[in-house]
Amino acid sequence: MIEMSLEPWFEAVREGARALAEGHLVAFPTETVYGLGADATNSSAVARVFEAKGRPVGHPLIIHVGSAEALDRWAIDIPEYARDLAFSAFPGPLTLILKKSEAVSSLVTGGQDTVGLRAPAHPVAQALIAEFERAGGSGAIAAPSANRFGRVSPTSSEAVRAELSDHLRPGDLIIDGGDSQIGVESTIVDCTADCPSIARPGAITTDMVRSITGLDPVPFSNQIRVSGSLKSHYAPAARVVLEGDVEPGDGFIALSHHPTPRGAIRLLDAPTPEHFARGLYRALRRADALGLNRVVAISPEGQGIGVAIRDRLERASHGSTSRSLGEEG
Ligand code: TXA
Ligand code: MG
Repeated sequence: MIEMSLEPWFEAVREGARALAEGHLVAFPTETVYGLGADATNSSAVARVFEAKGRPVGHPLIIHVGSAEALDRWAIDIPEYARDLAFSAFPGPLTLILKKSEAVSSLVTGGQDTVGLRAPAHPVAQALIAEFERAGGSGAIAAPSANRFGRVSPTSSEAVRAELSDHLRPGDLIIDGGDSQIGVESTIVDCTADCPSIARPGAITTDMVRSITGLDPVPFSNQIRVSGSLKSHYAPAARVVLEGDVEPGDGFIALSHHPTPRGAIRLLDAPTPEHFARGLYRALRRADALGLNRVVAISPEGQGIGVAIRDRLERASHGSTSRSLGEEG
């Protein structure tokens, strides 16, 4: 007899797949951050995602699929370099922006004719998508990060609960899958032109995109913004500052080789930039839990995940000083 051993979380995944099929919302773990998912083909469920997040419609959601094989169902006119990216980096912390197929509702894409597609690597996310499809569902989960609009993305199920439990309804679920290993959102690569362009930096770096595609990607820039596009926030309630003196009572976020300034409250003590990314959002949440007014953060230098960390910290610092400017999701 073959002995079958199911992962302990599998029952939660089965319930999650059922909940998705019935039009409920399911928050689930990914390797980047937790997502708040709905069946991408169910308009009323997708509408509830915007409502639960407090996110204005018009801000597109990423569709989460099982693998690169799913691309042709949800996208058309896929350039060869985008296929190379998907077949090399899916499942993983990468989202591709492609021209949408007719199967994608414009509610998901915020009215645009493009769609963001990502195959998350977390085993619970993979199992949830597979089980949802096996049970007759679309196998496509539209999901933004599982935070209220403009706030810090959650990297644990406890953080999801703190963000959203007041906005979920009976039948909705939060699946626990431990702490997110990467800790910052996926790299977004716009694949709608002849050459890939980095729209949001993440764990898949520009160098990786270059070496996978053999093309020179348009680098990420958070300076240049087309009019109408808003600066994202990822902001805690505490004010985040990236330079200046650290005062007693300030929160302090830095790599381990920076000693804690006198009187400061150490929120993150990361030996490497990867640890920094993994712990950053938890540290910002802790600042709020402690009721701190101000957090001083020293970003890691260099390329790699450092680019994503600097981007998120810059947005967090921006959000805390001029919140009216904009959004994130
Ligand atoms: O790591 C991640 O990507 C996480 C996990 C849950 O997968 N998701 C995430 O989703 O960060 P969200 O909605 O919080 O951020 C997605 C970003 C938004 O800024 C959205 O505007 C952009 O992706 N996006 C989605 N679809 C797009 C499209 N068709 N064109 C341009 N930007 C798009
Ligand atoms: Mg988000």
